Amino acid sequence: MSDPAAPSTGTTGRPGRRLGVLISGRGSNLQSLIDACRDGRLAAEIAVVMSNRADAYGLERAAAAGIPTVVLSHRGWPSREAYDEALAAELTSRQVDYVCLAGFMRIIGAPLLAAFPNRVVNIHPSLLPAFPGVDAQAQAVAHGVRVSGATVHLVDAGLDSGPIIEQRAVPVLPGDTAASLSARILDVEHQLYPAALATLLAGGWTIDGRRFIPAGAAAQS
Ligand code: GRF
Repeated sequence: MSDPAAPSTGTTGRPGRRLGVLISGRGSNLQSLIDACRDGRLAAEIAVVMSNRADAYGLERAAAAGIPTVVLSHRGWPSREAYDEALAAELTSRQVDYVCLAGFMRIIGAPLLAAFPNRVVNIHPSLLPAFPGVDAQAQAVAHGVRVSGATVHLVDAGLDSGPIIEQRAVPVLPGDTAASLSARILDVEHQLYPAALATLLAGGWTIDGRRFIPAGAAAQS
């Protein structure tokens, strides 16, 4: 068992570039990753797209891009851990290096995190730690904040709580609804996710406590 307090580094392990993308629905962030891999903003290959729902539109996006897809329903398993083990086994068998959550509506459990330590990434539509969990944009509108945004972070055992790789702010405008704010944040998400993954894949980063320190950046005190 590794010491969770020990610093970990992106320079160790395989310098992998094979992504497994996990979705549950529309897949617009998946599309942004497909596009970024195609046009060279992201030097990576999407090895597989997995969904827990057979009707996820993102599966069609993946198929149109020639990316293998796997549907693994979360139903019918004896435990949440058993489902996570099956996810991890599939991703491992496809030699995935990083697992990218893109609207995957399941909490990631210990078996998957253990199989991909510091290699599970999520995008969340708020400036974390504000408004974790579901309906982050509606939470932001209801709270009356003037600024929200998007966060890309490493996944840990908590809810939207892992070290932050990148964030970008988005204004909340008078009259905004959850839908109008979601659309404005989504545009930013589509830029932010490929950019944050590029930072991750460049390697040389470290994690110091909660802080993700990119290659070449001095640690904050
Ligand atoms: C995005 O808002 C993402 O931040 C959140 O779920 C939504 C997924 O949208 N985690 P899409 O399926 O990528 O279009």
